[in-house]
Amino acid sequence: MTKKLFAALVLASLLGCANMDHTTLMPDPVTTPPSNSATLKDMPFPFGAAVNASLLRSNASYKALVVKEFSSITAENAMKFGTLHPAESTYNWTDADEIVALAQANGKRIHGHTLNWYKSLPTWVTNFQGDTQAWENLLKTHIQTVVGHFKGKVASWDVVNEAFEDDGTYRNSIWVQKLGTDYIARAFQYARQADPDALLFYNDYGHEYSTAKRTAILNLVTSLKTRGIPIDGLGLQMHTRYNQTDANISAAITSAVATGLKVHISELDIALNPDNNQSLTYTASLADQQAAKYKSIVKMYYAIPKAQQFGITIWNVTDGDSWIPVEYNRPDWPLPFDRNYQRKAAYQGILDGVK
Ligand code: XIL
Repeated sequence: MTKKLFAALVLASLLGCANMDHTTLMPDPVTTPPSNSATLKDMPFPFGAAVNASLLRSNASYKALVVKEFSSITAENAMKFGTLHPAESTYNWTDADEIVALAQANGKRIHGHTLNWYKSLPTWVTNFQGDTQAWENLLKTHIQTVVGHFKGKVASWDVVNEAFEDDGTYRNSIWVQKLGTDYIARAFQYARQADPDALLFYNDYGHEYSTAKRTAILNLVTSLKTRGIPIDGLGLQMHTRYNQTDANISAAITSAVATGLKVHISELDIALNPDNNQSLTYTASLADQQAAKYKSIVKMYYAIPKAQQFGITIWNVTDGDSWIPVEYNRPDWPLPFDRNYQRKAAYQGILDGVK
C-alpha cells in the first residue's frame, strides 16, 4: 500500500466514512498497521510451532491462531513414546492423528517429534525385562510402527532427541544402558527403512552455551554421515534467553551449517526470566530486548544457505501455553504472542529479521 493510500484510508476511517466498503480494504489500516499484514506463514522459510492437542480441541482462539500464522507444525507431546505407545501392544493415535489432519487440511508441513528420547517413556518400557535382542526389537518396532503409521504425512522426524549431557558425554539413558551408544545409528536406519522419503534429524539443546556439548553433537552427526547412516538434518532446540549473546548463537548456527546438514531451529523460545525471579513483571524494556533477540536469531538463520534452511519452529504458541512457566515454576513470557493471542514486540522482531 502506498503512503498516500494509507493516509487516505486512515482519514476515511477517522471521519467514519459510512459508505466505504471495508471488505475491499485489506487490512483495516487503523486496527492493523500495514507492516503487520504479513503472517509468519509468509516468512521466506517454513515457520512453525509446537502445538498442543487438547488446546486445539478446546480453545477456538488458539486453534485459529495456529491455522492463521504457521506453515509448519510439530506436536508438542502427541508423538512422544508415552503418548503414542502406552502399553506394549497398544498404540494411541488419537491426538497425533488430529494434529496431522488439521495440518493437512490447512496445507501445513508436519515435523515429527520424537522417535527416541530418554523422557516420556511409559512404565512398560522402563520396567521392561529382556535381553539385548529384545530391547533392540522394542526400539525397532516402536520406530517402524510410528514412522509407518505417518508415512507420506509426516515430512521429517526428530529421530533421536537429547542424547548428550551438557558436558558432552553421552546421557546414561535407558537406551544407552541396554543397547550402547550406537543404537543411535540403528534408530536412523530403522526410520529410513520405514519411510525412505522422510527427512531424519538429530535434535538437541545447548549448542549456544556449551562448546563441549556442541562439539560432541557435531562429532556424532559427522561420524554418522561418514558411515553412510541416513541423517539429513540437525535440530538446534534453542530454548534460549534474552541475554544470550549473539556471538554464542551465531557459533551454534555456523557450526551446524558446517556439517552440510539441513538446520532446524526446532524449539525456539526466549526466556525473559532465566534467573527464576518469582516477582518479575513483564515490562516494555524486556519486551523490546526480547524482540531484538528474536530479530537477530532470525537474521542469522536467514543468512545461511537456502538449501539448509529447514525452518524455525517456536516451542508452543503464546505466553499462556508456554511450557517454560510450568517447567521452571516461574513467571515468564518467552513467545511472540501474549496470553490474549495478541502479537508482541517479539512478533515484529521476527518479521524484521528477514527485511
Ligand atoms: C516438553 C513439553 O513442552 C512439555 O509439555 C512436557 O511436559 C515435557 O516436554 N525439549 C524437547 C521437548 O525436546 O519435547 C520438550 O517438550 C521441551 C524440551
